[in-house]
Amino acid sequence: MAQTRKPSRSKPQKTSAIPFFEPALFQRAIHPQSAISASDFSVAEIRRILLSADTLEKEEPLRRAKRLAKRRVALLFYESSTRTRTSFELAAKALGADTTLVSSLSSSIEKGESLKDTGITLKALGAECIILRSPYSGAPYLLARATGLPVLNAGDGMAEHPSQALLDLRTMLRFRGIKATAISEKCLRGVTVTICGDILHSRVARSNLLTLPRLGAQVILCGPPELLPEIASSMGPGIQVERDFDAALRRSQIVMMLRIQAERLAGMKIDLDDYRRRYQANADRMAAHAPEALVMHPGPIIRGMEITSEVADGPNSAIAEQVHHGVPIRMALVARALAGVKVDRR
Ligand code: CP
Repeated sequence: MAQTRKPSRSKPQKTSAIPFFEPALFQRAIHPQSAISASDFSVAEIRRILLSADTLEKEEPLRRAKRLAKRRVALLFYESSTRTRTSFELAAKALGADTTLVSSLSSSIEKGESLKDTGITLKALGAECIILRSPYSGAPYLLARATGLPVLNAGDGMAEHPSQALLDLRTMLRFRGIKATAISEKCLRGVTVTICGDILHSRVARSNLLTLPRLGAQVILCGPPELLPEIASSMGPGIQVERDFDAALRRSQIVMMLRIQAERLAGMKIDLDDYRRRYQANADRMAAHAPEALVMHPGPIIRGMEITSEVADGPNSAIAEQVHHGVPIRMALVARALAGVKVDRR
């Protein structure tokens, strides 16, 4: 006799903190002073942001601290961060803003509060701008639509990290002796930048790819096929894929190393000894193929993996300088975000 199956009782749905699809949200506009993708910035806008970074960096600190005195900036971090979080916070404080940090480990996010509800809560508490880091690509768009506030993307999943691309650009321009006033569609003409490593999972690479070719740079992407699909070269003009790191170095004035993002590999196995042999920036390789090249890395660096200490701490390394540029660039982005926001002090 056929057994009858009891109708299965569906389990209660757990509230999820991940972004979710809510069609009505997609009708809502994104605040124009948001910075979510590097493609949000025209070349003229990039110039304005870098000029603003120069001005704010040079400004007398007490005068600067009056610019956003008592304005409220929330930092919402669902992923760990050292450089981006600290520099955004220092930037907002240097402009006089009050900041608050909400992290997924010490807030109601842990209890299942959604990104939308967290954003609405922060707005109700007076936040005028939200700086978001999320493991989910596209999360900043949802937050911007849900709150109507300017949202600054501090890194979303594998998608983008636009403020990193701007501070990387400032590092490159200084290396080439190019002033912010000279930023144009051709200011990086004749410059070849190799980006080497885990391109597939890198939001930094993506934001740089949306920026550098528009300023005239050639970009060579380098890495093994599992971390760099061939199709990456179709991201735009001026972008090539080269599997031979030594050949890429010989053509480059700037090399940007990326770590393998172990947290996003999703079971992918990489032969690390082979990876080091083929793609590590080490002293012998750099001396042989690109002795004058500027060495960059967005961090965190994994010493002995994609880069050796000799190179990371060597005379051509701009890694600390990149971190330094984080504060002025993020001051400019926070000031831009709040410039058009009406203060509602009910
Ligand atoms: N470059 C970067 O995003 O570093 P953090 O993860 O430390 O912020």
